Amino acid sequence: MNQLSDGMELRPLGPELAEALGVLLLALAEAGDDRYFGPHPLTPAYARQLAEKQDRDEYHLLLRHGEALAYGMLRGWEEGFDTPFLGVAVHPAHRGQRLAEIVMRHLHGVAERRRASSVRLKVHDDNGSALALYRRLGYRPIGRAQGQLLMEKPLRPR
Ligand SMILES: CC(C)(COP(=O)(O)OP(=O)(O)OC[C@H]1O[C@@H](n2cnc3c(N)ncnc32)[C@H](O)[C@@H]1OP(=O)(O)O)[C@@H](O)C(=O)NCCC(=O)NCCS
Repeated sequence: MNQLSDGMELRPLGPELAEALGVLLLALAEAGDDRYFGPHPLTPAYARQLAEKQDRDEYHLLLRHGEALAYGMLRGWEEGFDTPFLGVAVHPAHRGQRLAEIVMRHLHGVAERRRASSVRLKVHDDNGSALALYRRLGYRPIGRAQGQLLMEKPLRPR
């Protein structure tokens, strides 16, 4: 667990957080965010499945008083890749507070400790707020994949 200011904490996803993640996924679906954030179904049932799963990929929640404010993941290790793909989403009611940045910096640290030399992500060309955030955090375009911009950030493995 990683305690932050304002009563916020970062925790790896586990069965005890399935319900909180389910509420967040539903809010994302209701806001129409599946247009930009589509790594998996945005349903409470899928949240339960994910929370029970134990594999090499990482899923982390940013919480305050039990409510999931944001959610981030590093995937690809389970499939055998050395470079993980990062995904992040913030609850629609809590955007514009730089919460995605907190989750992403945390995930960069996780990836460094797991000796990844870089992290990648895909982003739609018209997702302006996400693009600005990724550039600010050091991601650079390296190509295209599945109709999206592919970006990469070098890390310093520890
Ligand atoms: C992209 C996303 C993760 C950014 O999270 P965030 O914590 O709100 O990011 P920031 O606080 O840095 O705000 C980013 C921009 O959003 C815009 N913004 C500000 N308040 C906002 C609000 N209430 N609602 C929506 N966007 C807002 C601003 O343009 C801001 O830019 P700034 O840097 O000039 O302030 C979040 O908007 C999100 O979850 N979107 C849906 C899922 C998604 O697109 N994920 C990324 C897939 S690649």
